[in-house]
Amino acid sequence: MASNPYKTTGLLGWIDNRFPLTLLWHDHMDRYYAAKNFNFWYLFGSLALVVLVNQILTGVWLAMFYKPSAAEAFSSVEYIMRDVDFGWLIRYMHSTGASFFFICVYMHMFRGLMYGSFRKPRELVWLFGALIFLALMAEAFMGYLLPWGQTSYWGANVIISLFSAIPVVGDAIVTFIQGDFYISDATLNRFFSLHIILIPLVLVMLVAAHIIALHEVGSLNPDGIEIKEHLDERGVPLDGIPFHPYLTIKDLVGFGFFFMIFAGIIFYMPEFGGYFLELANFEPANAQVTPEHIAPVWYFGAFYSILRAMTWDWFGVPAKLWGVIAMFAAVGMIFILPWLDRSPVKSIRYKGWISRVALALFIIAFLTLTKLGTMPPTNIVTRLAQCCTGIYFAFFLLMPIYSKLDKTKPVPTRVTK
Ligand code: HEM
Repeated sequence: MASNPYKTTGLLGWIDNRFPLTLLWHDHMDRYYAAKNFNFWYLFGSLALVVLVNQILTGVWLAMFYKPSAAEAFSSVEYIMRDVDFGWLIRYMHSTGASFFFICVYMHMFRGLMYGSFRKPRELVWLFGALIFLALMAEAFMGYLLPWGQTSYWGANVIISLFSAIPVVGDAIVTFIQGDFYISDATLNRFFSLHIILIPLVLVMLVAAHIIALHEVGSLNPDGIEIKEHLDERGVPLDGIPFHPYLTIKDLVGFGFFFMIFAGIIFYMPEFGGYFLELANFEPANAQVTPEHIAPVWYFGAFYSILRAMTWDWFGVPAKLWGVIAMFAAVGMIFILPWLDRSPVKSIRYKGWISRVALALFIIAFLTLTKLGTMPPTNIVTRLAQCCTGIYFAFFLLMPIYSKLDKTKPVPTRVTK
């Protein structure tokens, strides 16, 4: 029998002799020290976790009534909305949850950019995060086909057919993804299977790896300094507070505000003006009628804009293929970020004006691209998307230069407010 270092007794002692329950609780909760100056931006990791649980629970309920077949999918969603007890609530919690997931994750990533959370020794925490982001995009994309409405069908059509731009094997890849020569019952079935089993499993495992990696190196803070470098005589960080109860209580307050906003949207504006649930998707999928304007859901807007911004057949390569390359490269930038920042300081608080302007321009470009992605591609929309795409890539690719040139401020040794 394993020795029990905590000398717990009774049922807990029985468990501790067989499973490190008390050890896990101490390591990750009441003896896990985080900086005492966590601010608003530190809420979104825990909120993303809450939304993940919401998606899994409401997803399980939806799957009890949903029918994954081209003939029945649309009407089974209508049945959930009209006839299943509280079906409308469960469905709106799931659809609003999808948008909130991306809001939380984008805010969470922005915090990382601001405070340099991706820098050494947190590169793996960031990389697991980047993989989570990829998995989340795949999860949302496949989930969106399931209601089998007009935008479900045509949106999937636009994205899947992108792969046909790949030379030689493109068409074979499209058929492989669809499981057919067009988007059909077979496509819906495989997307359903991936959406409810494989990708959620991968997501949950990645989130576990993300948090284990974080707790190995410890959380950063808005000052971007390592609290482990200043310990008291017991080896406890002088600027640290135990995660439980101090930060769990702080997170709970944030959860309260979050649920008020979440409920407000579910009860009063679940479609959110067509941004969370697109209005054309209330019509059943029809392969004979292409909607006039096919736009992705807002959270894919930025990457879709980058795809459409490539209108040149450079070096004999068709613009469509450049678009696909640019879109994947845009996601790829997130993966290489930890090796681009050469600044001697981590947090934006102590960086100079060049890094601040670069970050501000990047955020403006990203938000503009997001909005443009939901609009029809007029000439002005395309030109603006091209400028913003340039800013997006310049932010990352020029970072090794401007982060080194930038004048930094002295970093305090202990955390501030
Ligand atoms: C399902 C999605 C995600 C969940 C549930 C999640 C969860 C968490 C939690 C609970 C924390 C600790 C609390 C905090 O610092 O906010 C954290 C930290 C962190 N996350 Fe995530 N995360 C997710 C996605 C991402 C993504 C997409 C990225 C970046 C690509 C990312 C990068 C980071 C980093 C760098 C930290 C450490 C921050 C620091 O110590 O300053 N996470 N995450």
